[in-house]
Amino acid sequence: MVFLRSINWISKTKRIMRGIKIKELLKGEKVGEHVIVKGWVRTFRSNRFIALNDGSTSGNLQAVVDFEKFDEAQLKRVTTGASVALEGTLIESLGQGQDYELAVESLEILGDSDPNEYPLQPKKHSLEFLREIAHLRVRTNTFGAIYRVRHAMIYAVHKFFNDKGFYNVHTPIITGSDAEGAGEMFRVTTLNIDNPPRTEDGKIDDSQDFFDRETNLTVSGQLEGETAALALGEIYTFGPTFRAENSNTSRHLAEFWMIEPEMAFYDLQDNMDLAEEFVKYLVSYALENCKDDLELLDKRAADEDKTKPQNERSEMGLIERLEFVKNNDFERVSYTEAIEILKRSKPNQKKKFKYLINEWGADLQSEHERFLVEKHFKKPVTLYNYPANIKAFYMRLNEDEKTVAAMDVLFPGIGEIIGGSQREERYDVLKKKITDMGIEEKDMWWYLDTRKFGTAPHSGFGLGFERMIQFITGMGNIRDVIPFPRTPGNAEF
Ligand code: 4AD
Ligand code: MG
Repeated sequence: MVFLRSINWISKTKRIMRGIKIKELLKGEKVGEHVIVKGWVRTFRSNRFIALNDGSTSGNLQAVVDFEKFDEAQLKRVTTGASVALEGTLIESLGQGQDYELAVESLEILGDSDPNEYPLQPKKHSLEFLREIAHLRVRTNTFGAIYRVRHAMIYAVHKFFNDKGFYNVHTPIITGSDAEGAGEMFRVTTLNIDNPPRTEDGKIDDSQDFFDRETNLTVSGQLEGETAALALGEIYTFGPTFRAENSNTSRHLAEFWMIEPEMAFYDLQDNMDLAEEFVKYLVSYALENCKDDLELLDKRAADEDKTKPQNERSEMGLIERLEFVKNNDFERVSYTEAIEILKRSKPNQKKKFKYLINEWGADLQSEHERFLVEKHFKKPVTLYNYPANIKAFYMRLNEDEKTVAAMDVLFPGIGEIIGGSQREERYDVLKKKITDMGIEEKDMWWYLDTRKFGTAPHSGFGLGFERMIQFITGMGNIRDVIPFPRTPGNAEF
């Protein structure tokens, strides 16, 4: 009996040992209670004040040690970056800057951090420097906030669609088809790349590869998503996508996450409505649930703005911008109307655009998109009905036979955040387009089957998750909103 009781006691103390989160302590409900907290030291001032962070919030817990009661050698080990376990009583703070603090009674160093080597010092580091230490940058206030907001947005995506009755579908990551027909894919192979087997005409013999065929990392889950929509009605995917495009910009990643809803019986109008509702929902969710982190990021963005020349500064602060998107309808403009606006625009007349807009059919560059959003309409813009020949094969041909029922949502500071369309559901029209665009029909047999058996009008779109996170966090570079960015020349970590 005695023996059993002692085991029980051990397991109980173990559970208490896990400690309490700083986010909970800062609410102040535990004043007077004896608690254990664990985290990483941000700073240790005057041999007395520890600023402790455990990642549960951007706020630090001030922990006060009475250095006369502690071993000097131990206090020397309380350095920036060290991980510690503190035991003590939560009290109301008399000092300025915090409402509550921990009066430390015992202190244990869990992991030392040599201050001469630890790269994160309690000062401002540039984002470029932090990218080089992506394994540690999550320990800064800015990146802690970004990771937490990113998490909240992942949850909000699933909540939005689940509440609407959409089903989440996992589409394959390794595929044999090029969904966008753009040929910007990463090859997946187990062939010996130094000496691959070859066919008689000297080409690589894919039939000897792992999948008996050529395969790549997916650029989009859309085509497989469509097969599910044509049975389940409303679905969405949320997965990693890969593009081997050599774009070294602040908005392109080689590996990014995309949300792709696909809906049976939706036309382009329904599709645009859903896209707008979805984006507004995400913004509202962040405003309601990530208040502290957004305030921190708002301040960071404002500080960064001050270092820029006057004409490059944002007219609105981060939170102001989010409120604006939440409360205003997006402008809906056809491609044809947009071309007219651009043709007549000042930068076009004065030849300030790098690519001048002379005629209908021109592909819009980001300078044009930004002009429409930031200068002309001053709000998010949904452009629709693009020329057929600048868009993907699966988009539905309009009555005019010149345009397709495509839509792009353009955001201030970001440019294209969503791309989508009503899909070509007519078998013959789709088949002709596949041939005309030089796509292998034999690879598309299963996709064409969906148009052969019970085809139905349907639509969908893709939201670039990182571009959305850029907008919500106000971060200028997409490399700073994904934990470990993959870009041309960079796959460290
Ligand atoms: O416009 P995209 O290429 O459309 C598709 O892939 C469609 N299959 C989507 C669909 O209809 N289901 O890409 C969609 C979005 C873009 O608007 C952009 O936000 C993002 O994905 N995106 C990228 N984000 C980061 N890095 C890149 N290299 C991106 N390429 C596209
Ligand atoms: Mg696009």
